[in-house]
Amino acid sequence: MRLSEAPLLTAEAIRERVAELGAALTRDYAAKELVMVGVLRGAAIFLADLARATRLEVVLDFARARSYAGARSLGEVEILQLPETELEGRHVLLVEDILDTGKTCAALLDRLRAGNPASLKICTLLDKPSRRETSLVPDYCGFEIEDHFVVGYGLDYNQQFRHLPAVYVLQSD
Ligand code: IMP
Ligand code: MG
Repeated sequence: MRLSEAPLLTAEAIRERVAELGAALTRDYAAKELVMVGVLRGAAIFLADLARATRLEVVLDFARARSYAGARSLGEVEILQLPETELEGRHVLLVEDILDTGKTCAALLDRLRAGNPASLKICTLLDKPSRRETSLVPDYCGFEIEDHFVVGYGLDYNQQFRHLPAVYVLQSD
């Protein structure tokens, strides 16, 4: 396994897009408090930058899920952590690193919805729409990408590469 020589998304391209997303959130949630729920661990870096790109009153919290590909790739999702923040009547934004099949996000949305938020939306850094197995469409998306396995800016391969400031394609030799 090796990384693509050139990044798929440079640090600068990511910085510009995150600034745009932050501005869009500031506009759309004007004068409202926003509870941003990052999905660990992949969204940690995106969440940190996105929150600082808004001019809103922000509360940060986290969720965690694990997906099992399973023998017949049923894609079962196990929820390991939910936000401690009271969600009732508040504006909640689920912040993801990447939407692939969409199953992780769909499972988390179901659980967050049970907390009766005033609104519940999704913001993902990356979207691979060609891989989708649910009807999920993100409300905010940084970049749509082809069906590549990507690492960096929070995304990992076996817990490696999360700290890279750009996004690279992982290539098998
Ligand atoms: P989903 O439930 O199929 O949408 O899977 C989402 C999760 O799979 C993400 O939160 C990532 O942890 C992981 N994932 C999917 N595609 C990639 C990738 O290209 N690179 C790194 N992780 C990925
Ligand atoms: Mg993840």
